[in-house]
Amino acid sequence: MGFILAASGSAVGLGNVWKFPYIVGENGGGAFVLIYLVCIFVIGTPVMLAEFTLGRKTNRNPVGAFEQLRPKSPWIGIGYMGVLGGFLILSFYGVVGGWTFAYVVKSITGSVLAFPHSKEPGEFFASFIGNSWEVLFYHALFMGTCIAIVLRGVHGGIEKACNILMPTLVIILVLLMIRSLTLDGAMEGVAFYLTPDFSKITGSVVLIALGHAFFSLSLGMGAMITYGSYLSEKENLASSTAYVVMLDTLIALLVGMVIFPAVFAMGLEPAEGPGLVFSVLPTVFASIPLGHGVAVIFFVLLAIAAVTSGISLLEVVVAYFIDQRGWQRKRAVLIAGLTTFAFGIPSGLSFGVMADVKFLGMTFFDNIDSIASHYLLPLGGMLTAIFVGWVWGTKNVHIEIEKHNNKFGFPWAQSWDFLIRYITPVAVGIVFIATVFY
Ligand code: PHE
Repeated sequence: MGFILAASGSAVGLGNVWKFPYIVGENGGGAFVLIYLVCIFVIGTPVMLAEFTLGRKTNRNPVGAFEQLRPKSPWIGIGYMGVLGGFLILSFYGVVGGWTFAYVVKSITGSVLAFPHSKEPGEFFASFIGNSWEVLFYHALFMGTCIAIVLRGVHGGIEKACNILMPTLVIILVLLMIRSLTLDGAMEGVAFYLTPDFSKITGSVVLIALGHAFFSLSLGMGAMITYGSYLSEKENLASSTAYVVMLDTLIALLVGMVIFPAVFAMGLEPAEGPGLVFSVLPTVFASIPLGHGVAVIFFVLLAIAAVTSGISLLEVVVAYFIDQRGWQRKRAVLIAGLTTFAFGIPSGLSFGVMADVKFLGMTFFDNIDSIASHYLLPLGGMLTAIFVGWVWGTKNVHIEIEKHNNKFGFPWAQSWDFLIRYITPVAVGIVFIATVFY
């Protein structure tokens, strides 16, 4: 159970609560959700099983894992891409993690709930993220927390935290969903969220959905290889995969059912971007009994969920420096953590003083997110699938999974083989090509 909790601690995070609703809102609603779900089950799930297996088999960090199975080969490059991906993602993830820390404080003082009109929380949020010093202060606090935990090693505390975190998060989301669905005009939001309208779907929209499937499941950059390496041989890899995927998807879908009914009921804009949940939720809290307390609990849970994902990102980079470069844990954590923080500063300022500094029409924040989520993760996932399916071989995966009398038979094994060898590489390839042409 401990491992499943740690792996879901990595998967469930800001991707589910902050990013999923805002990209659904920006990319047209129901059709995007459907494509996302197909990517999760057809592409993400097989890759997760592959990463867990690679990690447990080799007991190494991502670079070490490929190196052990195919020494001195270009495949080790997948591991390096993962370490780079972890660094890039954490650099902007830490900024948004900082926002959640700030909202813990602001919900305790009550300032986020102090608005009678539904448009005001959005303005409150915009003025907060435009305030450089405040944003950087909380960004530093978030990174400091991750650094402090990873310094002690990822075992122990995290598993216990997730034990309480996951069930409480699900319960709160169900309660909030009930409130959202009973607001006047909620059904318009449900229709937006659940009725597919494919007219808005282009190659790049599919790439965003695909990238987010990897992002949300923590795949394509070795986080699940690293966590798999902590796993004992008794554990059933296939059912662990199923459990993590289900929980992660359930939480994302629930969040959507909280956000979109409320967005439409309050006459807000679903495509408003990264501020969406922060602008919508305060009004929902303000409209329920004991809303102040619920808001505090919610933002505390979100902050913990962000930290448990943040440490898995940092741990990938740290494990590389410890295992491959022979650094002491302390040195690896401090250097990796502080460098990531520093590189994240322009992302933190992207909604304020650097809002007009654009490259390819995007802010620094959006560029880093896009490089990592739309390119590095899908590419990493595709290469991992090719490596496992064609180079290391699916036979070896079956042997690893079936240790200690765990069963991996018909039809699961055959379906998995087919997905990882053919579907994952081809589908990701097609999406990359489609982005260029459509
Ligand atoms: N899956 C995490 C989330 O949804 C983010 C993450 C991505 C963590 C990649 C680790 C690796 O918030």
